[in-house]
Amino acid sequence: MEKIVINGGTPLFGQVEISGSKNAALPIIYACALVKGKCVLENIPAISDITYSFEILKGIGAKIKMLDKTTYEVDCTDIQPCSSDYDMVRRIRGSYYLLGAEFGRFGKAKVGLPGGCNFGVRPIDQHIKGFEALGGTTSTEGGYVEINSENGPVGANIFFDVSSVGATLNIMIAATLAEGTTVIENAAREPHIVDCANFLNSCGARISGAGSNVIKIKGVRELYGCTYAIIPDMIEAGSFMVAAVATRGSVKITNVIPKHLESISAKLEEMGATIEEFDDAVHVTASGTIKKTNVKTLPYPGFPTDMHPQMSALLCTAEGTSYVNESIFENRFRYVEELKRMGAKIKVDGRIVYIEGGTPLTPAPVIATDLRGGIAVMIAALTAKGRTEISEIKLIERGYDNIVAKMQALGADVKKIVVPDADDLEQAN
Ligand code: EPZ
Repeated sequence: MEKIVINGGTPLFGQVEISGSKNAALPIIYACALVKGKCVLENIPAISDITYSFEILKGIGAKIKMLDKTTYEVDCTDIQPCSSDYDMVRRIRGSYYLLGAEFGRFGKAKVGLPGGCNFGVRPIDQHIKGFEALGGTTSTEGGYVEINSENGPVGANIFFDVSSVGATLNIMIAATLAEGTTVIENAAREPHIVDCANFLNSCGARISGAGSNVIKIKGVRELYGCTYAIIPDMIEAGSFMVAAVATRGSVKITNVIPKHLESISAKLEEMGATIEEFDDAVHVTASGTIKKTNVKTLPYPGFPTDMHPQMSALLCTAEGTSYVNESIFENRFRYVEELKRMGAKIKVDGRIVYIEGGTPLTPAPVIATDLRGGIAVMIAALTAKGRTEISEIKLIERGYDNIVAKMQALGADVKKIVVPDADDLEQAN
C-alpha cells in the first residue's frame, strides 16, 4: 500500500506550474465520441480519472495515441455504442458523459451508472430530464442508464431545476448533433463548460451562450476532428494558493487563468494574504496572523465546492472562529473527522462546518476520504510540525497530477512510501 508522508511546519516557497483541468478534460474526452475523425487534445493532466476514461473509450473501439506527456490523439471513428465496460465506468463520475455522446451520435446509449466521490446521493435526474426532452426514452435498470430514440435527439427547450455542471455538459454534448435547436436554461456556468463548448465549436458545432445561464445549441449533421488545448485546472491552482497561505509561504502559481480564481483570491485577500496577478499566473504570499472568514460554496462564479475541504484546513490556522457553508453537496464532510485527528477544533452542524482556529495542528495517521478531502489533509499536514502519514492516496492521485513532486519543488518535506499491507504480509508468510 502507498502512503504520503509529510514532515510539516515549513513554509512553501517557489514556483509551480498547474496541469490541465480534470473537469474540463473529462467531458471533452468523451465528446470526442461524437466525432468520426481524429481529435488531438493538448494539456491533458496525468491523473487516473483520465487514464480510466481513455481505457473506457478504447474498450468501445476508439484508438488513443499518446503523442507526448500531455498530448493525445483520440480517434472515435469506429466506436460501438452501448458496449462500455460496466466496472470501468463505475470507477469515476465523468464516465456519464458517454451517455450524451452515444445518444447524440447514434440515437441510443447504454452506460453503467457512474461512480465518483461519495458525497451522499448524487442524482442524475436532471441528465435524464434533458435526454427525455431531446426525445430519448430512458430507463435506469440493472445498474445501467439506457437511452433510445426513433431517429436520434431532436432539439428542445430545457429548464434545469438545478444548475448541474454534469447535466449541462451532458445535454450540450447530446444536443450538438440533434435535429434542430436546443436551449438550456438555468445552465451551470463553470469554465469547464465553456471549454467543452469551445472544443465542440472547434469541431464544427454551433453552440452559443456557454458560461451564461442560457446555452443555445444549433444541431449540425456531423462534426470533424480538431486540435484543442484544455484550460488549466482552477481547483489544482486554488489548492496550491491555499497551501501557500496555510504554510505562510510565498508561491508563484503559473499556467492559470486568474479570472477563474477570482472567488478564491478574494477570500484569501480577505484573510490577509497578498495576491499579485499576472496574465497567466498568480503570486500568493502570507505571513503572521491570518484572519478568520466565512465561506458559502456556490455554483460558479461563486466560491467552488471543490475548494471547501482545503479552506477548512486553512481556517484551522486562522485566528478566531470561521464557518464553511456547503450549499452544493449534502455530505462532503468526511474529511472533518481526519482533521479532528490532527487536533482541529472543527464540527459539522447540518451543512455548515465550524472551525475554531488558533491552535496549531499536530501530526496523526490520517486517510484521504475523497479527492478534495485528501488534498485538504495534505495541506493540514504541511502546517503541522512533525510526521503525518496519509493513506488511501490513490484518491488524491485521481485528480492531482504529480502532486508529491510539485510540493517537493516548493520545499515541502513530502514523499511517497510503500508499506506492506495485510495481503502482502500474508503472502510473505
Ligand atoms: C461536477 O460534479 C464535478 N465533477 C465535481 O467535482 C464538482 O464538485 C461539481 O461538478 C460541482 O461543481 C466532475 O466534473 C467530474 P453537479 P457533478 O451535477 O456534475 C445536484 C471534484 O472534486 N444534482 O453540478 O456531479 C447534485 O446532487 C468533483 O473534482 C441533481 O440534483 O456536479 C449536487 O447537489 C467532486 N440532479 C448539485 O446538483 C442531477 O441530475 C451539483 O451537482 C445532477 C446534480
